Amino acid sequence: DIPSLHELFEEDFPIGAAIEPNQTNGPSSELLKKHVNWLVAENVMKPDAIQPSEGQFIWTNADRIVEFTKENNMQVRFHTLVWHTQVGAWFFQDAEGKPMVDETDPKRREANKKLLLERLDTHVRTIVGRYKDEITSWDVVNEVIEPGDPDGMRASEWYKIAGTDYIATAFRAAREAGGPEAKLYINDYGTDNPVKRDRLFQLVKDLLEQGVPIDGVGHQTHIDIYGPSVDSIITSMRKFAELGLDNLVTELDMSIYAWNDRSDYGQDLPQEILNLQAERYGELFKAFRQNKDILSGVVFWGIADDHTWLHGFPVARTNAPLLFDQQHQPKPAFWAVVEAA
Ligand code: XIL
Repeated sequence: DIPSLHELFEEDFPIGAAIEPNQTNGPSSELLKKHVNWLVAENVMKPDAIQPSEGQFIWTNADRIVEFTKENNMQVRFHTLVWHTQVGAWFFQDAEGKPMVDETDPKRREANKKLLLERLDTHVRTIVGRYKDEITSWDVVNEVIEPGDPDGMRASEWYKIAGTDYIATAFRAAREAGGPEAKLYINDYGTDNPVKRDRLFQLVKDLLEQGVPIDGVGHQTHIDIYGPSVDSIITSMRKFAELGLDNLVTELDMSIYAWNDRSDYGQDLPQEILNLQAERYGELFKAFRQNKDILSGVVFWGIADDHTWLHGFPVARTNAPLLFDQQHQPKPAFWAVVEAA
């Protein structure tokens, strides 16, 4: 009999997984019930899933995940109120259906910005209002930093139309609808990268100074077996903790390929690769435990290797980023994490 992950880390932090609603049935559900006490929706709480067109809110898929957590004594955290992708195009169209980003007249640009922020406010209040008794941990905005874009801010439609005001609006609406118990996070990937980390730090500091209610930083932590270093991950968390912010690991997985590598091991995963993965997962969880004063949860982006977005990203190939294999058996990485507990 294998140990339960969330029981092993009970004293430290919750352990979570991102799932699709259909994983609440069948073999995945058994793994989930045993090993995790947090769940996240991999897709069904994203803007386009919940409000595909203006005023049309779809709750059924999101509710299935919430119901499953209630039945099994788990918590759910929300991903994500705002994002530049998986968001309905309607948000960014003016009353005539024209893309707001194309508008050049200053008065109309001002009116478009106002309309966009009103739509955002309604989106956030409707969702947070509905789930505030069940959900206390929220990804409010996702991936707003992009060091390659002007000013280091992702040049999304949100940003092009509203500047950073969309971020402030989303956090304020979430606080008003969710109350003081709601924990509000700004979520991003590559937060270990010093350039990105420092831009994110500056943004959060500026927003906090304006009174924008941000409680913490979500570090996606989509890493691979070669990098980044565990030290750089922890260093970033320490930096945000100094601002008085909480840290979460929100989307942990560990690709077995280097980022620029385009090879494919197929179904025959080399043992040395699985061992390397185990070593790094062990090192990572040791560091998480040692730094639990600044880290309050670890969520995997999936539960077993039969279902992971990395089979399709950045190219189609067999990947194996999680702790359980395609047959739901524990991998060397699982045992390394157990060892670290
Ligand atoms: C991914 C899902 O896993 C995929 O199923 C979907 O096709 C695209 O989005 N960063 C995030 C997540 O914040 O929402 C992404 O999830 C993975 C990267």
